[in-house]
Order: sequence, then C-alpha cells, then structure tokens
Amino acid sequence: MSRTYRIAPSILSADFARLGEEVRNVVAAGADWIHFDVMDNHYVPNLTFGPMVCQALKPHAVTPDGRPVPIDVHLMVQPVDALAEAFAQAGADLISFHPDASSHVHRSIQAIKARGCQAGLTFNPAMPLDVLDWVIEDLDLILLMSVNPGFGGQSFIDSTLRKVEAARKRIEASGKDIRLEVDGGIKTDNIRRVADAGADTFVAGSAIFGKSDYKAVIDAMRAALA
Ligand code: DX5
Ligand code: ZN
Repeated sequence: MSRTYRIAPSILSADFARLGEEVRNVVAAGADWIHFDVMDNHYVPNLTFGPMVCQALKPHAVTPDGRPVPIDVHLMVQPVDALAEAFAQAGADLISFHPDASSHVHRSIQAIKARGCQAGLTFNPAMPLDVLDWVIEDLDLILLMSVNPGFGGQSFIDSTLRKVEAARKRIEASGKDIRLEVDGGIKTDNIRRVADAGADTFVAGSAIFGKSDYKAVIDAMRAALA
C-alpha cells in the first residue's frame, strides 16, 4: 500500500541553547513536522518546555519558501486540558495526549478540536488500545510510543510492531483518515520495518539531532521508506 510518509524530528534532542536555529535547520533539511515533546516532571520523570517556547519557535517552523511546517505537540503531562488549551493558543497544529493522563478523554479530544487543532491519542508501550473503541472517529492521529516516555536516545521496543499492526487495522476499520505515528528509537535502519507494520509518520530525535548532517539522515530515512 502506498502512503504519504511524514518525518517528524523531535527537538528534544536539539541544542536547547539554539532552538530557533535548530528548527530552521531541520526544516531546511526536509522535516515534515516539528515534534515537540512536553514533559512535566509528574506524568514523566523529566521536564522540558512549555507553550511560551512553542510560541517563540512558531515563526521558525517555516520552509525557506514560506510554507508553514506543522508543530506536532506531544503532551506528556497530567492533567491535560489546561496545557492543551495553552498550546493551541501558542500555535500548535496537532496536539496529542496520553489517555491515562486525562480524566475525561473524550472531553479533552473535543477541547483540542474546538481550538482548531488536530487531536491525537498517545499510547505507552504497555498501554492497550481499547479506548480507541470509543473515540477513534474523533481522532486525527494515533501516536504509539516505542520507548517509555521521558527521554530521548532509548532503544526501540519491538512489541510496538505488533501494536502498529493492530492500530492500522483499527484505522482501516474506521474508514477515517488518521495518521499513525511512532515515537522512540526510530533510526534509518529500523524505519522501514515500522512502516511495513503500518506506520506512516515517524518521530526521530537523537537519530537526526545527534548527527552533524540532518539532511543526510532525513534523506536516508526517505530512501529506506521509498
Ligand atoms: C520520548 C519522546 C520522544 C523522543 C524520541 O518521551 O516522546 O519523542 O524524543 O527520541 P529518540 O528518537 O531519540 O528515541
Ligand atoms: Zn514524543
């Protein structure tokens, strides 16, 4: 099956002292989305950046010819709703959250969409997909974690491949246009396997920002997907 693949570099692995420049460089290197990992030192044992940083980076997420590049906000926060709203106001294009971090998953999804953003649900490696039985038709994105959230540079957890297959079946059964994104441990040498399992959108942090030539990595990922 042919799909439009998207590569979403995670700025979690960028140089935080030069974030605007890092975003511009990775966009120039061919990033389709900018993946923005929000951690609260509560839902996950790490702390990153908030809506003010998103707002500051928004003008940098533009291609050299002026096309905006979507900001893909991955909320690893609990509770969800107040920060989701703040990120919508700060220029996020997609906002995904962990269902186990929201007391009212359906309400959180609707609140994100009411703010004009696309809404996603994110699943930790050991989290079942059952909640999709009740909300899949409202989603624009399913984000499957292939590492435990909190840190970049971890190894891909192989059971994710089975979960990607299961999520792809659910998307097909729904008849909806829903992106299936995988996050954690994606490299040039495993991206093809993840795509073959059914994913169409790939977060990559350390694989890209850990190298000096971002374009070479993104090109190699696209070549592996071709
Ligand atoms: C982990 C984050 C990931 C992470 C991916 O909590 O959600 O986006 O940055 O980083 P790599 O690609 O280094 O595994
Ligand atoms: Zn992420």
